[in-house]
Amino acid sequence: MKICILYDTKRGSTKKVALKIGEALKEKADIKIERVTDKFKVENCDLIIIGAPIYYERPLPSVINFIRSKNGLEGKKVAVFVLCIADKFGEFGKKYTEKRYMRLMTNPIKGKIIAKKVFDGWILNENPKTLEDAKQWALRVLEAFQTGKIIEKVEHPE
Ligand SMILES: Cc1cc2nc3c(=O)[nH]c(=O)nc-3n(C[C@H](O)[C@H](O)[C@H](O)COP(=O)(O)O)c2cc1C
Repeated sequence: MKICILYDTKRGSTKKVALKIGEALKEKADIKIERVTDKFKVENCDLIIIGAPIYYERPLPSVINFIRSKNGLEGKKVAVFVLCIADKFGEFGKKYTEKRYMRLMTNPIKGKIIAKKVFDGWILNENPKTLEDAKQWALRVLEAFQTGKIIEKVEHPE
C-alpha cells in the first residue's frame, strides 16, 4: 500500500506536519512525502493525504492548482488538511475555517474524501501540540482507509 503525502509551504510548518504524518505511518505503509509539483504522478498512490497552509484567506494556490492539474484526484481516496490560525477564535473561528478554508480545499477534489482536518498553524514558535495532533490524525486516517470508513465531520485541533 502506498500513501502519498503532498503539501506546499511558505514558512515550513506545513512541511513539518506532513513529515510528522509520514513518521506516524512509516511502519504501516510505503510512504512518499513531497511538495506539490506537476511532475508528481498520483497514479501509484492508494491514498493521498494533501495539505496546504492558509495565506490571505485561502489555501496556497499551488496546492489547489495541483489538485486541478491532476483532474481533481479523481478515482483516489483523499484525506485533506489545512494549517491556519483562525481556528483559535472559538466556535466562530471553527465554523469559518470549515465554511471557507476547508471548502476551498475540497471543492476541486473529485476523489473520495475520507477525512478533513484543520490544524493550528504557527507563525513564529513551532506548536508541539499541532505535531502531536498530526500524529494522532494520521492514525485515524489510516484506520478509516483500511476499514473503508469516511470521517464525515471536519476535525479541529484537540
Ligand atoms: C502573511 C501571512 C498571512 C496569513 N493569512 C492567514 C489567514 O488569512 N487566515 C489564517 O487563518 N491564517 C493565516 N496565516 C497563518 C498561517 O496559515 C500559518 O502561519 C501557517 O502555519 C503557515 O504555514 P507554513 O509555515 O507552512 O507556510 C497567515 C500567516 C502569514 C505569515
